[in-house]
Amino acid sequence: VKKTLAIVGATGAVGREMLLCLEQRRFPVKELRLLASARSAGAEIEFRGEKLKVEELTAGSFAGVEIALFAATTGVAKEFAPIAARAGCVVIDNSSAFRADPGVPLVVPRINPEALEGHGNILANPNCSTIISLLPLNVLHEISPLSRVIAATYQAASGAGAEAMEELRESTRAALDGKPFTPKVLPHPYGFNIFSHDSDVDPETGYNGEERKLLTESRKILGVPELRVSATCVRVPVLRAHSVAIHAEFRDPISVEHARAALAGTKGIEVVDDREANLFPMPVAAAHGDGVLVGRIRADLSDPTGRTLALFVAGDQLRIGAALNAVEIAELLLEEK
Ligand SMILES: NC(=O)c1ccc[n+]([C@@H]2O[C@H](COP(=O)([O-])OP(=O)(O)OC[C@H]3O[C@@H](n4cnc5c(N)ncnc54)[C@H](OP(=O)(O)O)[C@@H]3O)[C@@H](O)[C@H]2O)c1
Repeated sequence: VKKTLAIVGATGAVGREMLLCLEQRRFPVKELRLLASARSAGAEIEFRGEKLKVEELTAGSFAGVEIALFAATTGVAKEFAPIAARAGCVVIDNSSAFRADPGVPLVVPRINPEALEGHGNILANPNCSTIISLLPLNVLHEISPLSRVIAATYQAASGAGAEAMEELRESTRAALDGKPFTPKVLPHPYGFNIFSHDSDVDPETGYNGEERKLLTESRKILGVPELRVSATCVRVPVLRAHSVAIHAEFRDPISVEHARAALAGTKGIEVVDDREANLFPMPVAAAHGDGVLVGRIRADLSDPTGRTLALFVAGDQLRIGAALNAVEIAELLLEEK
């Protein structure tokens, strides 16, 4: 049955990727409404060979819409998701506005599709680094329960939106030309630099927002409230696709061979772990793909009990960590009733 859909934030990095995912996965779309701020109203975006006009988001935008994919700001989600939900529309929100709400399912269809059961009209799409880290970790968690995760992220410009991608291009060009560059979107010079993630830092613990999401959202998605997580999140001058170095501790020992075979046998995961060729996951190889690349699968030598594995993963967070995950949630909605 074809559905009437809306994309809120259709002109952004995630919104545009959503259009692509709907098209590539042949989602049964009856009508697609593209919404953004007044700044972009009137712009044209192609969908299935047809030019669609972007409209300004207003309270009246959701009449007749069955599923709304939100890819705008947290503020927009807080204001307009309840309006859309009251209009009878199911909202799939990519911002962090509702993720911690105990009444809102936080869904990765490849991990916890059952979280949708009995849902209200608002569903949350998790943080991108969390989705990319948990997809392989969940495979191993099914072998032996996960107890502790230590992660270091290498996050791309695309995670901060379309303007941040442009800032990386411009600041790199300026650095090569020896010209001064004043950052506009991100807090620090980006080309040829790395800096701590640009989310707010909790003054008490020193952990930033991205690091806290890895803890709270992993616990909620896996349903393990006592899971111990410590992350260090950093932006690197990569245009697209996040990477994460992970040390994961399990209740029981898991051999490298067992882990590799389980990961290799999972749809949506691609093992890239060639020790001889020194070939492992890279963001350029992960970009635009629908699979999480997993490699550097090793026994963590610092844990003599054999219960800790080290991994390096890379995934296109615009797709796997945002747009594709949201479209996969929408596909689960199609199966209802
Ligand atoms: N980038 C990622 O990998 C990623 C991953 C997971 C989650 N997310 C989340 O997804 C959301 C979108 O991220 P993004 O990276 O796509 O950002 P982006 O490229 O900056 O795009 C933001 C979009 O929101 C629209 N927007 C902004 N203010 C608005 C308003 N007042 N009313 C209506 N529309 C408005 C913009 O429209 P205009 O063109 O009119 O400005 C644009 O379409 C954010 O909440 C982000 O945290 C992003």
